Amino acid sequence: MSHAYKTKGGLLPVLDGLEVAVPEGTFAAVVGPSGCGKSTLTKLVAGLMKPDTGEVWLHGERVTAPRKTVGMAFQNPVLLEWRSILENVILPLEIVAPKMPRARRVARAMELLEMVGLVGFENKRPSELSGGMRQRASLCRSLVHKPEVLILDEPFGALDAFTREDLWQTMRDLRRAEPFTAVLITHDLRESVFLGDQVIVLSGRPARTQYVMDVDLPEDRTLDVLFTPQAAGMLHTLRDQIKIAQGRGGKDH
Ligand SMILES: Nc1ncnc2c1ncn2[C@@H]1O[C@H](COP(=O)(O)OP(=O)(O)OP(=O)(O)O)[C@@H](O)[C@H]1O
Ligand SMILES: [Mg+2]
Repeated sequence: MSHAYKTKGGLLPVLDGLEVAVPEGTFAAVVGPSGCGKSTLTKLVAGLMKPDTGEVWLHGERVTAPRKTVGMAFQNPVLLEWRSILENVILPLEIVAPKMPRARRVARAMELLEMVGLVGFENKRPSELSGGMRQRASLCRSLVHKPEVLILDEPFGALDAFTREDLWQTMRDLRRAEPFTAVLITHDLRESVFLGDQVIVLSGRPARTQYVMDVDLPEDRTLDVLFTPQAAGMLHTLRDQIKIAQGRGGKDH
């Protein structure tokens, strides 16, 4: 698929001949140089924009309009300050399942809040929580309506390294508890290897698929896996690919 933005300076081609396939129930991590078109890709997958050429398919259906069956989380969790954490998590259910009884909505939200360790904070306002806790709440909100596809655009990018690793494990546990298909945009190669079943490297703008790596690590990963020679090899390969994508041909400087 391809896509260009109309700007004052003319057409800006952002995606060009990009092909991405994510098998149902698997986790794809997408990495690529800054500004190459990763966020654009997420908007196309969610149906928020239409590609100029090509098609987006989700679970056997062509995407032509915004999809309710998609869950999204971003770098800065956009939680509504006038709502409690619980009411924030429930929000997608109000839109997707307006007839669902309140008790069921609350039970569903609490189930997720429990999985991410936020029970006891459900009645707090977003500003009363730490950045990591807010991102946990945002993950709950993106999953509350059991989306077909979860789209994550650098959700852990603004967090410190320890909190980030904590959230990787939370993400792994959430997936174990209720499988979903996920597309994660990230700048962190360790994150892509820890969470991904495959890592897709995009070229510089206009982005196309430059390299796809199947992450051949045990499904039940712990952070230790990142210190194995196998993971080190993968990280090395990915780093070289990113350098190529940045047009630096694998040379360090
Ligand atoms: N609505 C828009 N109108 C015009 N140009 C845009 C628009 N949105 C993005 N762009 C441009 O398209 C290119 C790709 O943007 P995009 O946000 O998809 O990149 P990205 O890969 O997500 O970058 P980053 O890694 O910095 O988040 C950039 O050059 C950006 O300036
Ligand atoms: Mg982006």
